[in-house]
Amino acid sequence: MSDALHHRLIAAAAIMREAGKVAHDYFVRRDQLQVELKGMQDLVSIADRAVEDLIRQHLASAFPQDSIIGEEGGAEAARASGPVWVIDPIDGTANFLRGLPYWCVTLGLYLDRRLELGLTYDPIHDQLFSARRGHGAVRDGRPIRVSDCRDPRQAVLGSTFTFKMKIERYLNLVEAILRAGADHRRFGSTALMMAHVADGRIDGCATLYCNSWDVVGGLMLVEEAGGVASDFLDGAELDQPNRVFGCAPGMLATIQGLPGMDLPVDPA
Ligand code: IPD
Ligand code: CA
Ligand code: CA
Repeated sequence: MSDALHHRLIAAAAIMREAGKVAHDYFVRRDQLQVELKGMQDLVSIADRAVEDLIRQHLASAFPQDSIIGEEGGAEAARASGPVWVIDPIDGTANFLRGLPYWCVTLGLYLDRRLELGLTYDPIHDQLFSARRGHGAVRDGRPIRVSDCRDPRQAVLGSTFTFKMKIERYLNLVEAILRAGADHRRFGSTALMMAHVADGRIDGCATLYCNSWDVVGGLMLVEEAGGVASDFLDGAELDQPNRVFGCAPGMLATIQGLPGMDLPVDPA
C-alpha cells in the first residue's frame, strides 16, 4: 500500500485545493447563502454540502474501493476496514458564515484503522498542511515542526467547545489551562488549530468533545510534525465523539493533567 498511499496523498492534496477554492467562492458571497440550524449554535449551508459532495465525488472516482465518511454526507462507513477517508468540508462553519477568516477544509485517511494521512487546507491564506505517517508534515511542501515550548507559563493552549458537551467541563478545562499559567485560545476550527499546533504557532490543543472529521487530519499533522497526538480510535469509533489532544512534547504533562482528559466523553 506504500505507493498507493503516496498516490492518495498527491490526489488528496489536489482535491483539497480545489475544494478550498469552491469553499472560498461561497465565502465571498456568504450573505447570499441560506443558513440552517442543525442544533444549538450548529450551523450549515449549501457551502458545506457542496464542498463535501465535490470531495466525495473526486475520491470515489479516483479510489472507488475506498470508504468515505463525512460530516454532512453520513458516517455509515465509520467501522469499515481498508482505506477510510474522513471529511470535514468546512471546519469552522460559524466563523465562515460570519466572515471570520478562521476555517478550513480537512481530510484524514485511515488504512485498516490506522491513521495514515492528514490534510488541512486554509483557503484564506492559501496554505496546505499535509502529512503522511512516517514521512513528516509540510506546509506547501516545506517541513513544519511543533514548538519547543516546555514551560506552560510560556505556552498558548487551544481548546474547543460545543453545546453538545457539559458547559462545566469546558469551564474547568479553561480554568486549569489558565491556572497552569498558559494563555488560552478558542479560534472555532479544531482542524485549523491542530494544523497550527503542528506548525508551532500554538503549543497544544485539547478538546473534551470532538467528532472525528473535526480532527483526525490534524492529529496526523501534529504527530508527523514531532508532536504528540491522541489516538481518536482509543475510546471511540469514527462516528462517535471523543476527547482528543495534540501538542508539543514539552506540553504533554500539562495537557494530560487537564481535568476531563482522562474521562470518557460526557454529553450535555
Ligand atoms: C466545529 C469546530 C469547532 C468545535 C465545534 C465543531 P464545524 O466544527 O470544529 O472548533 O468547537 O464543536 O462543531 O461545525 O464548524 O464543522
Ligand atoms: Ca467540524
Ligand atoms: Ca463542518
